[in-house]
Amino acid sequence: MDTIHVGLIGLGTVGSGVYTLLRRHKSELEFQVGHTIQIDKILVSSLNKARVIDGEEVSSKLLTTNFDDILGNALIQIVIEVMGGETLAKEYIEKLLQAGKTVITANKDVLAKYGVELNALAVKNQCDLFYEASVGGGIPIIRSLVEGLASDKIMRIMGIVNGTTNYILTKMSNEDMDYSVALKLAQDLGFAEPDPTGDVEGLDAARKMVILSSLGFSMPITLEDVYTHGISQVSIVDIQFAKTLGYVIKLIGFSQILDGEVEVSVQPTFLPKEHPLASVNNENNAVYLCGEAVGQTMFFGPGAGSLPTATSIVSDLITSIKRLQLGIRGSHLVSFKHERRIKSENKIMAKFYLRLTVEDKVGVLNQITSIFAKEELSFESVVQKPTKNPDDAQLIIITHEVVLSNYLRALRQLKQLDHIKHIDSSYRVVSNG
Ligand code: HSE
Repeated sequence: MDTIHVGLIGLGTVGSGVYTLLRRHKSELEFQVGHTIQIDKILVSSLNKARVIDGEEVSSKLLTTNFDDILGNALIQIVIEVMGGETLAKEYIEKLLQAGKTVITANKDVLAKYGVELNALAVKNQCDLFYEASVGGGIPIIRSLVEGLASDKIMRIMGIVNGTTNYILTKMSNEDMDYSVALKLAQDLGFAEPDPTGDVEGLDAARKMVILSSLGFSMPITLEDVYTHGISQVSIVDIQFAKTLGYVIKLIGFSQILDGEVEVSVQPTFLPKEHPLASVNNENNAVYLCGEAVGQTMFFGPGAGSLPTATSIVSDLITSIKRLQLGIRGSHLVSFKHERRIKSENKIMAKFYLRLTVEDKVGVLNQITSIFAKEELSFESVVQKPTKNPDDAQLIIITHEVVLSNYLRALRQLKQLDHIKHIDSSYRVVSNG
């Protein structure tokens, strides 16, 4: 058997998983490709650390701190980049592709921002760029979207694509835990980073939605196109109201195409309890797709973790080796069929939940309904609840499907009303299907 020489950049959680999987599944993997698979070099940040992986010390001969040992090694045709970060990782990927080496990466930060140019670079240099692990860690969602559903037209993509926020919201919802307590627990368990901003403010999910939406709708969506709102302001009060009304609150990545125009958002969303995504709990991820022909499908699994993420990376490796053998590298078509067309706010239709604290006085509801009528917003339900202050009341409104720009205009007008004390919260509501 010939040998396929592989370079590995990064030996942290994911890199160790890749190393482990290549060892544990060695004979099965090599049977599939008909070659010996050998890691020739591993780029690490420091050589002064013993690296014991899966019970065995990694040979020091494999380790280097010099990127050129991988870039300049003519035997290495495939490189796995799992170092994370943006600037340096992008520079490495670029150099490797320019040198004609296939790159496999889990780096959603780089892909969401530079995916279009890096794919073009791969094609130009007759090598491949694969990134199955960049969304949904161990869920083979990218291959399912691009190949499994190649015969269909994707109409809607909804995802719980961030495990940290799903874990926090599950704890808040099922155990009445406060946001800060649930976040601390997620940090203690290693789901959330010490600086959780990227996860809790929705940026990580937005990057993943850029990747999924671009591939699903064959359109170069950018991060700026994603309306992004995180979970740090989600309150237990709304979680409780959601339950009473038959919903759960999840951080949902939502994108859909209608009349050739795409809308993409990441925001805490009211999801009916019966929706397939509603029962995806804890740190799990899931992606729910609606295709014109297939109808609804859902992919569920771990969104992160050493071995789950490694399964996606090593699958990319298998595909890369097969393409190398077939001599078809660089023909991986990730060019986009459509020009970017983003739906404007005055064409987006959505339902909303709105919670207001108002003075409990004659005529207040009338003022609110007048604004709603003027903006052609129709109520699905209005509930009034008492508050601790006997002079105030809480109004819980759910709208029918309304035009987003009209709704936002109404919110601005409500803020001006003297008798409205606070607009406590506003969430998008998604219907089943
Ligand atoms: N931080 C991510 C999450 C995992 O919480 O899902 C890596 O994408």
